Amino acid sequence: MPKLNEERARRRTFAIISHPDAGKTTLTEKLLLFGGAIQMAGAVKAKKAARHATSDWMKLEQERGISVTSSVMQFQYRERIVNLLDTPGHADFSEDTYRTLTAVDSALMVIDCAKGVEERTIRLMEVCRLRQTPIFTFINKLDREGRDPVELLDEVESVLGIECAPVTWPIGMGSRLKGVYHLLDDAVHLYESGRNYVTQQARIIEGLDNPELDEVLGGDAAELRDEIELVRGASHPFDPDRYLAGQQTPVFFGSAINNFGVTPLLDAFVEHAPAPGPRETVGRTVESTEPDLTGFVFKIQANMDPAHRDRIAFMRICSGRFERGMKLHHVRLGKDIKAANALTFMAQDREQVENAWPGDIVGLHNHGTIGIGDTFTLGESLQFTGIPNFAPELFRRAQLRDPLKLKQLQKGLIQLSEEGATQFFRPLNNNDLILGAVGVLQFDVVAYRLKNEYNVDAIFENINIHTARWVRGTDRKLDDFRRQMQTNVAEDAAGQLVYLAPSRVNLQLTEERWPDLEFAETRETL
Ligand code: G4P
Repeated sequence: MPKLNEERARRRTFAIISHPDAGKTTLTEKLLLFGGAIQMAGAVKAKKAARHATSDWMKLEQERGISVTSSVMQFQYRERIVNLLDTPGHADFSEDTYRTLTAVDSALMVIDCAKGVEERTIRLMEVCRLRQTPIFTFINKLDREGRDPVELLDEVESVLGIECAPVTWPIGMGSRLKGVYHLLDDAVHLYESGRNYVTQQARIIEGLDNPELDEVLGGDAAELRDEIELVRGASHPFDPDRYLAGQQTPVFFGSAINNFGVTPLLDAFVEHAPAPGPRETVGRTVESTEPDLTGFVFKIQANMDPAHRDRIAFMRICSGRFERGMKLHHVRLGKDIKAANALTFMAQDREQVENAWPGDIVGLHNHGTIGIGDTFTLGESLQFTGIPNFAPELFRRAQLRDPLKLKQLQKGLIQLSEEGATQFFRPLNNNDLILGAVGVLQFDVVAYRLKNEYNVDAIFENINIHTARWVRGTDRKLDDFRRQMQTNVAEDAAGQLVYLAPSRVNLQLTEERWPDLEFAETRETL
């Protein structure tokens, strides 16, 4: 399969992780621009006002200025095919981000040079560490006054616990920004404020000893030479193997909004970031070079395109070649389905896929039969591992303004909970509709989407539930439990039995009373 291996080796599938406002959207735009995926990447302002970023799907995102959904963007850069999986930056959407990180081969961390390592970055880094995801670092907003670069690298090393290898080094910052020095190429990329907007044509001076540098930088040139000598002496040299093992991060400096420092980043990224590698399943390791198609679903999105009113399951291809119209084996259901009109993602424009390869993401139309974590194969019974489920921490009761819309409300709550960010519960002894979520903003999002996508006006009110536990055990014990605990028992959207505990003490007592049952924090991985 030379073609399979060739296509696999060209793929670079990654996500950008950052604290909100560090510049992820801006950098995404610039990367897409370099990849020719969008024609114009104006200032973010222009985007926010009129022509919203290609990665922002929902109106809600624009209103709130946060990315609610993860989108998938594919573009070509040099001879590589880059798949960029966008992730929401807001903490209330972290489950989505965590699951997306299981579908990538590497990550790019964006840090604001004035703020350094922030709280969200720390949490996302922890997730990346679980799978030793290799990470590139981009320190952004160099056109503004920021912190001392040595101090920033120290902070990354001590707070995030990863070795830093500077690849570019800033020459000044804020109004004194002159450019960056590329430590591997021995070249200075000069910065021209405001000039590098659309495409970057930074002037490059080859060699630190080049007299041209003295002409351009004057007295600063000598200072730069001294500084670089110190940096080389005090920092780790870039080691591709340590990077691939997740132990070292190559660091780049720049200004995304000015398109500065992005080319060196992207060049190094497509060269060093890993191509799709092996993936673990319950029984064996699947090599990405295997000829038979395998993949898993890491994300489900309802009503992605309001005009189509469809639900899409995002499948990451782990091995083999995907062909449009092929039959896929849905392992959990033990059934074959036909992937007749699978989708590939070029941000908002959806194109029909003919072929896709390891590392690519395809969108399958879902009519409620595909769940997060589902594996697809050509017939083999496999189950990819490592796709997390999340325990809801907040609970609300849905209240309808128009009681005649009950059916619509139920449908909306079930379909939206398939996406995995919220969970839907129906108590056994009353007609409440209860929603569980990890972040409070999720309730606003659901209310908004119910109105927009299902034409239902609902509000969410507080309810006395402390936590939820998925109850497992023998059928007989479960029947007993169902009968005796009626007031606190519910079914989730998939019909699994859930205990809704009013308090911590109550949960403890119940667990003690029912020692033969298991009380799990998350639903069973399907
Ligand atoms: P996010 O997706 O990580 O949340 O960040 P986003 O790209 O939306 O950027 C957050 C803010 O930082 C935006 O400003 C954006 O213009 C600004 N920004 C991004 N990159 C740079 C950079 O290299 N230099 C400077 N100086 N600013 C940068 P905003 O105030 O939210 O919007 P706007 O009013 O500036 O449009």
